[in-house]
Amino acid sequence: MSFKKTIWAVVSLLILFSLVLSACQGGEEATTAPEPEETAVPEQPAGQQVEVFSWWTGGGEAAGLDAMIKVFKEQNPDVEFINSAVAGGAGTNARAVLATRLSQNQPPDSWQGHAGQELIGTYVKDQKIEPLNFLYEQEGWLDVMPDTLIPLISQDGNIYSVPVNIHRANVLWTNPAVLEANGVAVPTTLDEWIAAMDTLQAAGVQPLAMGEQWTAMHLMETVFLASLGPDAYNGLWSGSTDWGSPEVKAAIENYVKVLGYVNSDAASLSWQDAAQLVIDGKAAFNVMGDWAQGFFQELGKEPNTDYGWAPVPGTGGVFQFLSDSFVLAVGAPHRDEAIAWLKVAGSKAGQDAFNPVKGSIPARSDGDRNLYNVYLQSAMDDWANNTVVGSLAHGVVANDSWKSEIDTALGLFLADKNVDTFQSALVAACQNSGPCQ
Ligand code: GAL
Repeated sequence: MSFKKTIWAVVSLLILFSLVLSACQGGEEATTAPEPEETAVPEQPAGQQVEVFSWWTGGGEAAGLDAMIKVFKEQNPDVEFINSAVAGGAGTNARAVLATRLSQNQPPDSWQGHAGQELIGTYVKDQKIEPLNFLYEQEGWLDVMPDTLIPLISQDGNIYSVPVNIHRANVLWTNPAVLEANGVAVPTTLDEWIAAMDTLQAAGVQPLAMGEQWTAMHLMETVFLASLGPDAYNGLWSGSTDWGSPEVKAAIENYVKVLGYVNSDAASLSWQDAAQLVIDGKAAFNVMGDWAQGFFQELGKEPNTDYGWAPVPGTGGVFQFLSDSFVLAVGAPHRDEAIAWLKVAGSKAGQDAFNPVKGSIPARSDGDRNLYNVYLQSAMDDWANNTVVGSLAHGVVANDSWKSEIDTALGLFLADKNVDTFQSALVAACQNSGPCQ
């Protein structure tokens, strides 16, 4: 019961009590007992707000969210927007906070969730989010959302989220001046990449910048893709590629080689810190999703001059993707306003405000290309023409329990670099939580 309702109940009880008391006393005052006044209960402001939860707090990410909030406020001037973003790249902190709130049945009205297993294997499985088919019908979204995406946010004919963007995971960010000064061309194969990093290292340049552990998982998935190719990479998640095979061992060995070129303080750096090393000319390469592009833009840097990009060597022609989407909580405290938010998130206006700043391309197929910079236009072309595979670190291919087992094994591996132990742990993780059961 709300505070106001409680007050009203207490006032009513007191009035009732005084009426009964007066009646018992047999006095005439009973008839003159004060009438409850309509104005005793102020206008209910409840509902005129919406709480949206994400991990977009800085480095280009908050700016993107703010741009979409602006569109929301223009369309919903009376609704207070409560931005409950929790800092930490890839949602490492935010998702823990969210899990606690969900377990206590105190959900935000709407939250950021990745299309794919993160959504289906967690929030849908636990019945935490509402199907949104009615919105898709009302807003005509099935005509504009990509066919690749709908199955990743659906179960049993129900569609569970509103994708706002497509991000690319397998991007190699480069510092063009550092490469040129060292006579290094942008590598296109794993072997070329290793050779380039040898040259850079010999010249005293930090070859590859990396950050905290989730960025190591991000790097790992791109190297696995480069080593295995898209079909065998997909097979890791569907069960058709044997995690214990020599091919997977070779992929892990490639990953160890690449890790040999990263900065020693990686564990204490955020993804922005690592990307900053490249922009500042203190490292030559960084592997990161294209939210890095939003960060570079926020720093006022110019594409092709201050930074360059290419598919992670060995992954040309493949677009390793992820998609941020927003959901509607079961029991959302402000359901109508949450739906208003989702309408903006799924709209052309919302997506064209958000994505050029965030460093992603719109999930909708009808975004206004002219609003997107040269990098994002290249991403649009690749999304349309490349082979598309999903990201592990960002929720597409593995559910939370599988991903967390992989993450635990990865933590040990980063410390001991023992390939056989790591491979056995990956085999076990697939058996425990993946399709190898
Ligand atoms: C991803 C998310 C991106 C970006 C990135 C870094 O998981 O999908 O939108 O926020 O984390 O924080």
